[in-house]
Amino acid sequence: MSLSGKHLVLGVTGSIAAYKAADLIRQLVKTGAEVQPILTPAATRFIAPLTLGTLARREALVGLWPEAGPGADAALWTQHVELGLWADGLVIAPCTAQTLAKLAGGHCDSMLTAVALSARCPVLVAPAMDHDMWHHPATQRNVRTLEADGITVLSPASGELASGLVGDGRMPEPDAIVGALGPWLANAPGETDRPSEASLAGTRVLVTAGPTREAIDPVRFLSNGSTGTMGFEIAREAARRGAEVTLLAGPVSLPTPPGVNRVDITSADDLLQAALAHADADLVIAAAAVSDYAPADASDRKLKKDGDDLTLTLRRTPDVLATLGQQKREGQTLVGFALETHDGEANARGKLERKNLDWVVLNVQGEAGSGFGTGTNRVTLIGRDGQRIDVATAPKPEIARAILDAVA
Ligand code: CTP
Repeated sequence: MSLSGKHLVLGVTGSIAAYKAADLIRQLVKTGAEVQPILTPAATRFIAPLTLGTLARREALVGLWPEAGPGADAALWTQHVELGLWADGLVIAPCTAQTLAKLAGGHCDSMLTAVALSARCPVLVAPAMDHDMWHHPATQRNVRTLEADGITVLSPASGELASGLVGDGRMPEPDAIVGALGPWLANAPGETDRPSEASLAGTRVLVTAGPTREAIDPVRFLSNGSTGTMGFEIAREAARRGAEVTLLAGPVSLPTPPGVNRVDITSADDLLQAALAHADADLVIAAAAVSDYAPADASDRKLKKDGDDLTLTLRRTPDVLATLGQQKREGQTLVGFALETHDGEANARGKLERKNLDWVVLNVQGEAGSGFGTGTNRVTLIGRDGQRIDVATAPKPEIARAILDAVA
């Protein structure tokens, strides 16, 4: 979807990722959007308002009060209300832990937070902070509050952080954000068009999420880069729609979505046992990135270095989804994911048949804004009955909604 002619307020807060806001504005302006940059005072320590204003071709705003003090220009004082009405969308990127907390608390001590509180348009935030700040219960509580308020919170990407640590907390790259904005604005939930809170009431939903770990010895394992975000978002949305949701979660560092019954698992074998215990669910969505192989003989003692080479013999793990597919009951819906790097559609259709699925969600690893460790995804839903639904790149909460709209 084109952003041409859209009015966007871009809020920039005091994070090192503020430098990415320059590229973000450049790209947004190129798509034809009108961008009004607003910096918090802390953001000006990282990037100059002049830089962002020049790229946006509009004066970047910072202060809530007219420069010469209250009364100097009375018109300026109500600018935050006007901007809140002017905007088709408010995007805060990067959004620090501090601004996230202020938004959750309804504070309005700067031009940006005052516009956010006045805005009638959809709001999207792209958090950027250190790994531990992101995972702190206070930040996660604030994220849940914002989501309950209808604000879209992108999951931060994983990787190297400014602190030198490696973890979650990187702002998604500008091109991923720009790609996500069109579909987000098109689908942004208004008060009236969100599916009813109770549309899945009485439905039992089983979701698998995250990676598995297959032990080599007591301190080492085989695994993959899944962060669990997509599955957690599906569980969150299903619970919001009133379903009774069980989430089988591999080792991930995500908070449990409200109202969801979470069961933590480690290996593919654990996942199979937990899934069989909930195999009577009405809807099963398997988003876990299950390891297809595990060491044939995990050592119960730590392996010691011995020579230049080490040969591991691997065995196939149970295919959890295929097992559920074999015993699928009348009226049950099974949905699998296919994360592919090549021949996506053919591979996905193969999985649909082999695993006896009703839907397969195809996504492509390696494409910008898709796959592991990104806040966004682009998927194609392929149905057993021949339906094919393309969902353009969007934040994972939006993708979760599109999947549930199609399959539930
Ligand atoms: N899956 C599962 N148990 C496994 C492997 C996969 O439940 N042991 C599920 C995944 O959760 C996903 C779907 O099956 O929903 C597809 O997983 P994937 O690993 O891509 O498919 P495979 O059939 O293993 O094919 P390949 O690895 O050859 O692409």
